[in-house]
Amino acid sequence: MDHFNYQNGELYAEQVPVATIAGQHGTPCYIYSRATLERHWQAFDQALGDHPHLICYAVKANANLAVLNLFARLGSGFDIVSQGELERVLAAGGDPAKVVFSGVGKRADEMRRALEVGIHCFNVESESELRRLNQIAAELNLSAPVSLRVNPDVDARTHPYISTGLKENKFGIGIDEAQDVYTRAADLAHITIVGIDCHIGSQLTETEPFLDALRRVLLLVDQLEQDGIPIEHLDLGGGLGIRYHEETPPEPGDYAAALRELLADRPQTILLEPGRAIAGNAGILVTQIEYLKPTPDKNFAIVDAAMNDLMRPALYNAWQEIIPVNTEPHGDPRYYDVVGPVCETGDFLGKDRALSVAEGDLLAVRSSGAYGFSMSSNYNTRPRAAEIMVDGDQIHVVRERESLAGLYAGEATLP
Ligand code: LLP
Repeated sequence: MDHFNYQNGELYAEQVPVATIAGQHGTPCYIYSRATLERHWQAFDQALGDHPHLICYAVKANANLAVLNLFARLGSGFDIVSQGELERVLAAGGDPAKVVFSGVGKRADEMRRALEVGIHCFNVESESELRRLNQIAAELNLSAPVSLRVNPDVDARTHPYISTGLKENKFGIGIDEAQDVYTRAADLAHITIVGIDCHIGSQLTETEPFLDALRRVLLLVDQLEQDGIPIEHLDLGGGLGIRYHEETPPEPGDYAAALRELLADRPQTILLEPGRAIAGNAGILVTQIEYLKPTPDKNFAIVDAAMNDLMRPALYNAWQEIIPVNTEPHGDPRYYDVVGPVCETGDFLGKDRALSVAEGDLLAVRSSGAYGFSMSSNYNTRPRAAEIMVDGDQIHVVRERESLAGLYAGEATLP
């Protein structure tokens, strides 16, 4: 459930008409609902109940400071993949001791900074990374807390671009080698083993692949215990899907209940790294129709948002619902491809959508709160959109629309 609903034919974000926000702050703009974000975060937190746990929100899904700050206030942890994300978490008041650092390509300077601020753990994805981390921790006279990210070789049954838990993917250490790597890690003077980590993909709509992965991880935990390597936490990654269209993903409560069945007597703290399931349906992208362009083959609704604002349709052929902000019809619905002004055929937000609209109308692309703004770019020298957070009847600009001059402010011509 989210807080973007119609009242008398008009789309609202919580208690504010979306058209009012567009009128005040222009389009395209992202609108987030505080109540929805908090509700979704709490759904995960409550689902794990009294089992020791930490929800580490995946910053990449939506890294706006206001969003991170809401979660920090709830006591959230954070899953980061760059120093940039770490600095955002710190700037938003997040607790570094609740940060886990994922990613296959951590640079030395990133490791150093993360060690200095005292993060909870590094999710290490290769032996080379482990050796580098040991060396940098030695230079700082510290010990680096480590989980190895294991690749359990399970099929997440999701889009191939966002499936990460198969042998052929670049992520993690093969589960069959993991025991040996743990043994070698345990011998490194500046590494402290704290956990095991596993993330098999994103937008999963079934529980079974998660449970498959967990079963394999638990076997490894037992082997490691026999080797005298105790594991304090299990990080099961993110990946729970949301409903964009006709998907029926498990609710966080069902997902967590299934996990807890396998974990019943295990003392380990559970870490989860949800991103999409928290932020996805807590945001919309609002855009205005510039032109309607009927052609003998297709009707196009040309809008002022484009693939640079919302890349998912172009990149994954992802389907996101597109709805009118004002439902007052303009004649019989027609099928439109909703496209942006960018010079690429792949620049579409949706195809073959039945809409009864006129030029100047506002449309909302639903489920845009995760991997929306965070994947946006300045392609075609387009300023990135404003981001707005609604809180009850209050409208807060949480990121100003970029200015045109700002887009080339750091550039220089030759003398
Ligand atoms: N943890 C790790 C290590 C990850 O790589 C990811 C996502 C997450 C957690 C969060 O996964 P989530 O709960 O959001 O599924 N841009 C794509 C999604 C890429 C996901 C990458 N990793 C999209 O728009 O569908």
